[in-house]
Amino acid sequence: MDSVSSLVKVSLPNYLRNLPIPQSLTGFFHLSASEWVSLIPFVGTVSFVIYASVKACAPPLLEFSRKTSHMINPNIRKDEKKVVDFLEVEDLASEKVSFCRCWKSEKFPYCDGAHREHNEETGDNIGPVVIKRKAK
Ligand code: FES
Repeated sequence: MDSVSSLVKVSLPNYLRNLPIPQSLTGFFHLSASEWVSLIPFVGTVSFVIYASVKACAPPLLEFSRKTSHMINPNIRKDEKKVVDFLEVEDLASEKVSFCRCWKSEKFPYCDGAHREHNEETGDNIGPVVIKRKAK
């Protein structure tokens, strides 16, 4: 433990203190070749730490973003793996039934007109699927 303590409290500060880091950005143009060479281990280590941190954190964030940005169903029956509804045409209670395709209806799977507000807000042109009873 003494070696770690010595490394953190003595060696590392001495190493950093002796790095030829200029006071301003233009000072980098005045560094000699040997000063640039002495910066390589420090820049390499810092770059690796940044790269490793981004590599460790970015994939879960990118995966979450990819999954949520392509979702079209914001909140309907999210506990189901796939939302599927069946209706026998003979069971139609009225002359026609409108089925929601915008996933905004409070009466899903039936259309309640919520697509109009969605279309006004987004400039989209979504409408329902309308099933009509065939005239006899
Ligand atoms: S409410 Fe969704 S299509 Fe009408």
